[in-house]
Amino acid sequence: MKFHGVVVLSVFFRVSSGENTTFPSWFMFGAATAAYQIEGAWSTADKSESIWDRLLHTQPSLVMDHSNADDACFSYDFWTRDVEIAHEMGLQMYRFSISWPRLLPTGFPNQISSIGKSYYGNLIDGLLRKGIQPVVTMYHWDLPQSLQELGGWTNPLIATWFADYARVLYTLFGDRVKYWITINEPLTICDGGYSKMAAPYLDDMKISNYLCSRHVLLAHAKAFRAYEKFRKQYRGKISMANVFFWFEPLNPEKDKEATKLAMQLWEGRFGHPIYSKTGGWPPELEKYIAGISKTEGYNQSRLPPFTPEEIQLIKGTYDFYGLNHYTTRLVRKATRKTAGDWPFYGSKELGVTFVNHPNRRTIVIDWFQIYPEGLRKQLHWIKDNYEVKDIMITENGLPMLRLDLADYDRVDYIKKNLEQVLLAINEGVHVMGYTVWSLIDSFEWITGYKLKYGLYHVNFESEYRLRTARESGKYYRRVIKSRSWDES
Ligand code: BGC
Repeated sequence: MKFHGVVVLSVFFRVSSGENTTFPSWFMFGAATAAYQIEGAWSTADKSESIWDRLLHTQPSLVMDHSNADDACFSYDFWTRDVEIAHEMGLQMYRFSISWPRLLPTGFPNQISSIGKSYYGNLIDGLLRKGIQPVVTMYHWDLPQSLQELGGWTNPLIATWFADYARVLYTLFGDRVKYWITINEPLTICDGGYSKMAAPYLDDMKISNYLCSRHVLLAHAKAFRAYEKFRKQYRGKISMANVFFWFEPLNPEKDKEATKLAMQLWEGRFGHPIYSKTGGWPPELEKYIAGISKTEGYNQSRLPPFTPEEIQLIKGTYDFYGLNHYTTRLVRKATRKTAGDWPFYGSKELGVTFVNHPNRRTIVIDWFQIYPEGLRKQLHWIKDNYEVKDIMITENGLPMLRLDLADYDRVDYIKKNLEQVLLAINEGVHVMGYTVWSLIDSFEWITGYKLKYGLYHVNFESEYRLRTARESGKYYRRVIKSRSWDES
C-alpha cells in the first residue's frame, strides 16, 4: 500500500510540476553492438585476421580472464536471434558494425567476400523486415591485420584504403542502409591503440597517436565525400561516433582552463575539424602541443598540422553528431609530472588529473560515476559549440558485474539518462535518437567477459549462447512502447 502511495504521489508531482515524460514521435530508440564483440566465427570461410584476433591469439594474458572473441556470442550463426531480440524490445534502430576483414579479406576491394557480403546483407534485410533501421558502423576497431603490417592508422594511405572500403559498403548495402557511422571512437583507436589499452597494443603516445588522429579524420572525410556519388539516390546520413566523457572543473576557477584543454584533447581533437565553423585542430590544443613539442626538442609539432586543403576536406563532413556518452569526470590541474595516468588518455600530456566527485555514486569501475545531468550538459555543449543541428546518441550504457537478470541499477541509469535527453530536447537540442550499449552481453575488449552491458543476458556456457531479457531489457521495451521514460 505504502509503495503504491509513493508511486501515486510521484506521478502526481510530475504531472503537477508539468514535467513532460513523452518523447516526440520522430525520436528513435535503439541498441548497439560491434562485430568483434559478438560475431565469433573469427576464421570462418575467407575471413582474414583482424588486429584483435592477432593480439589476443599471441598475447592472451592481456585480457583479464584470458578470453578472446573467437566465438563470442556466436552472432555470426545466431544473428536471427539478435534481430528477434531487437524486435521484441520494439527497437527502431539497431547499430552494429561490419568487420572489414570479413568483407574484404585482403583489406582492399580486389577481393570482396561473397560470404561476408551475404552475411551482412541478410542481417540488414532481416532488420528491415521487422521495421528496424540498420545503423551501420564501418569500423569498430577490427582492422585487417594485413593493413596493420603496412603501418595501420599511422600510414597516411589508410585514408584512401578506408574510403575504398566505404565505397564497397555503399555499393553493396547503400540501397538499404540509411545511417552510417564511419568510425567508432577515434580517441580509443588512437590513444587506446598506442597506449597499450587496445589493439594494435603499441606504446607511443608521442607521435603515433597524433598521426593516427590525423589519418582517422582524413579517412572519415574521404569516406563521407565518397558518398556524394550515392547520396542523391540513397539519401542516407553519415557521421562518426565520438566518445566524450563530460568534464567539469574540480575548482570552478582554478581548474577551468585545464578542463577546457582536456575537452579539446578528448573531443575537440576529433570534433573541431569536422563540426566547427573554422575546421582544423582546436586552436588552443594545437598551440599547446606545438609548445610542448618545442620544449621537448622536436622541430615540428607532434600534432601534425593539416594543409588548408585538408582542413576544407574534413570540415562539414557530417549529417549529424554521433555521441558515445558514458560518464562525467572532474578535472584537476596538476603538472605533467604529477598527472594521473590511465584510465584517462592524455592526462600526462596535459598535466591534469581526473578525479571522482565526492557525492556521486561510483559503480563497478572506479572511474564510472553516475551523473545523468552530465549528458544533458554535454548535449547543450555540442549545440552551443558547433554548427550541428542533429545529434544521435550512438552509445550509452552501464557496466555491471551481475550475472543475473536483476539489473535495476541499469534500469535506473537508462531512465535517468533518458529523462535528461528529453529535457535537452525540450530545451531546444535536437536529439534524433538514443542507443543503449549494448543489445546483449558481449566480449568487452581487455576486460573480457567480466563486465556485462547487455539489455539481454548471454549464457556463455550454453552451446547456443542463450539470450534472456534482463530487467533493463523489459524496462526498455516498456519505454519504447509508451515512448516515455517513466513508462506511463
Ligand atoms: C565502445 C564499445 C565498448 C563500450 C563499453 C565503447 O567505448 O564503443 O565497443 O564495449 O564502450 O566498454
